[in-house]
Amino acid sequence: MQKRRIFVTSALPYANGAIHLGHLVEYIQTDIWVRFQRMQGHEIHYVGADDTHGTPVMLRADAEGITPAQLIERVWHEHKRDFDAFMVGFDNYYTTDSPENRAFCEDIYTHLKSKDLIAVRSVEQFYDPVKQMFLPDRYIKGECPKCDAKDQYGDSCEMCGATYGPTDLKNAYSTVSGAAPVRKASEHYFFKLSDPRCEQFLRAFTQASDRLQPEAANKMKEWLGGPGDARLSDWDISRDAPYFGFPIPGTDNQKFFYVWLDAPVGYFASLRNYAERKAKDGEKIDLDAFLRPGSDTEMVHFIGKDILYFHALFWPAMLEHAGYRTPSKVYAHGFLTVNGEKMSKSRGTFITAESYIQQGLNPEWLRYYYAAKLNSTMEDIDMNLDDFVARVNSDLVGKYVNIASRAATFLTKYFNGRLSAWEQLSRIDPVSIAERSHSAKEIADAYESREYGKALREIMRVADSINQYVDLKKPWELAKDESKHEMLQVICSKCIFDFKMLSIFLAPVIPAVAHRVAHEFFGLEKDFAWADYNVYPTKIRPYDHLITRIDRKQITSLVEANKESLKPAPPPPHSQQRHAQHQENVVETAAQPSTISIDDFSKVDLRIARIVMAEHVEGADKLLKLTLDVGPLGTRQVFAGIKSAYDPAALAGRLTVVVANLAPRKMKFGMSEGMVLAASGEAPGLYLLSPDTGAQPGMRVK
Ligand code: 2FM
Ligand code: ZN
Repeated sequence: MQKRRIFVTSALPYANGAIHLGHLVEYIQTDIWVRFQRMQGHEIHYVGADDTHGTPVMLRADAEGITPAQLIERVWHEHKRDFDAFMVGFDNYYTTDSPENRAFCEDIYTHLKSKDLIAVRSVEQFYDPVKQMFLPDRYIKGECPKCDAKDQYGDSCEMCGATYGPTDLKNAYSTVSGAAPVRKASEHYFFKLSDPRCEQFLRAFTQASDRLQPEAANKMKEWLGGPGDARLSDWDISRDAPYFGFPIPGTDNQKFFYVWLDAPVGYFASLRNYAERKAKDGEKIDLDAFLRPGSDTEMVHFIGKDILYFHALFWPAMLEHAGYRTPSKVYAHGFLTVNGEKMSKSRGTFITAESYIQQGLNPEWLRYYYAAKLNSTMEDIDMNLDDFVARVNSDLVGKYVNIASRAATFLTKYFNGRLSAWEQLSRIDPVSIAERSHSAKEIADAYESREYGKALREIMRVADSINQYVDLKKPWELAKDESKHEMLQVICSKCIFDFKMLSIFLAPVIPAVAHRVAHEFFGLEKDFAWADYNVYPTKIRPYDHLITRIDRKQITSLVEANKESLKPAPPPPHSQQRHAQHQENVVETAAQPSTISIDDFSKVDLRIARIVMAEHVEGADKLLKLTLDVGPLGTRQVFAGIKSAYDPAALAGRLTVVVANLAPRKMKFGMSEGMVLAASGEAPGLYLLSPDTGAQPGMRVK
């Protein structure tokens, strides 16, 4: 077999958010492929990094009162922890904010420039005069030009569905400072994608057989149009200061590479960093063979279908014209839905990797379930939580490990863990090596082509047939009659041989179980290679359980733990939604509320607020001092009685709800200019309210 040399990547996650189940579809998909290739004996390098640059990271760090460097350092550790927990086995996990990345970006840019593929043009954009920065569209809101709905984004109205540009908004405001943005021109740098050289290259690149999935290749055809259609526009690769990123050479630190330029370059930077690390250990990775054209190495990108444009057009065109190798494959997958719907914080289905682990769920359950659902298309995949429980329990526990637990008991009890000699087995009940090899080939082909669901169906078909064999041979009856013990040993040996094979076939999906099977059950010294599936074992150690069943209650708790408190308030008299402020020094009255009119209610100006900073208050037992960003209403200081329930560090950056028109109140520790809302019940515990994703500081709650 020809040994392949493969460099594999997954999309780099942004350094301003947690890894969640949606992300994990891709990392698990990639990791399975990588593990499969490694078991085949290929040279494979899987690298990743955090995608650290850009405005959101800059603003988030600002809101938390820390530097972007501190933010990305913290998030890097969180991401790495989550990947390790889910056994996503990066050979190197790095950052795009690295010297290697900067050097690659500068080199690519310089080459493009020398080939006259960079243009400079003036662009007029919205500018926040208070924050003194240009505003990406997503930070501008205003009134819909058509229906006057307030707080609409600059591209479309959520109320009436109208589409328009940010300049059409009435009374536009910056969601960063609340100020009215002004229009301002500045010079931008463009990669000339419209240049005929780019267009020509991309036409050939995207249509080359098997490089993209058929549906992706078709999409590209649409985007590119026919020869001479000139559909591609030049790509704006610069952003003005202040920006967290790499300065563009020759711009006096005034222009920075747009984050999407340096993000994919981060793949190369991580590989280089890895190769240099390995070189120190005396292991050589031929970097040039992976990064320059003309070798037989492969570069394979796993991505979500939403970022196809970047990976199939911008990135390869950039590489091609800067003298680097281009991607061999770009594999796009669909999005994750949970119970048939978009993941949702209010439904508790926006589940973070961290909470899955914290709730004590086994990561291999998820790996198995995702594998069972994955195929090579860009279709979305649905995680139905009931199906998740049923599938894992039935396949992994009911079918796969059941084989080992059934057979091992007899071998341990009557034969000291020894399997029958191969000759004995061949004489009494021969094994079909050809049949095994046929299955192995079919499963390997399915893994190779990312048809994991198909691979697992074949594996479970084999598992079913082994369980049927056990049912037919009834070893428990043979065990009772000593004259039938030779037969008993043969039957159980066959089962164990098959169990070993299944463990090998499943190893890319459930690597920790496979590792334990190899080392603890078979007493081997190394992990399984694919070719070991036909190597007959001679003995086993006593069987110890390998994987437990999922209890449906665990899923209920997981969903509960991920629910954010947008649930409607329970009806009186148990209504406990109340302010968390003023609890220090003020006695709560538990009076039962009488009804109020809608007009009464609308007197309360409830707003979304971002907690910019949370601090302890010297001398206060219950209070935290919160600095809130309330969008157009500016910054507020509020004292909240939530110290018992929240660590201030965990609050910075999160959104909550504030009563914005409460008369300011002078407290012992300073002025309190509002009140944040939290829920509590009979039992101890206090729960700050949070809005669903998408809410922005200053939005009205009504
Ligand atoms: O869409 C995203 O989450 C990006 N952070 C992916 C970057 S992939 C690569 F280009 F770095
Ligand atoms: Zn509208």
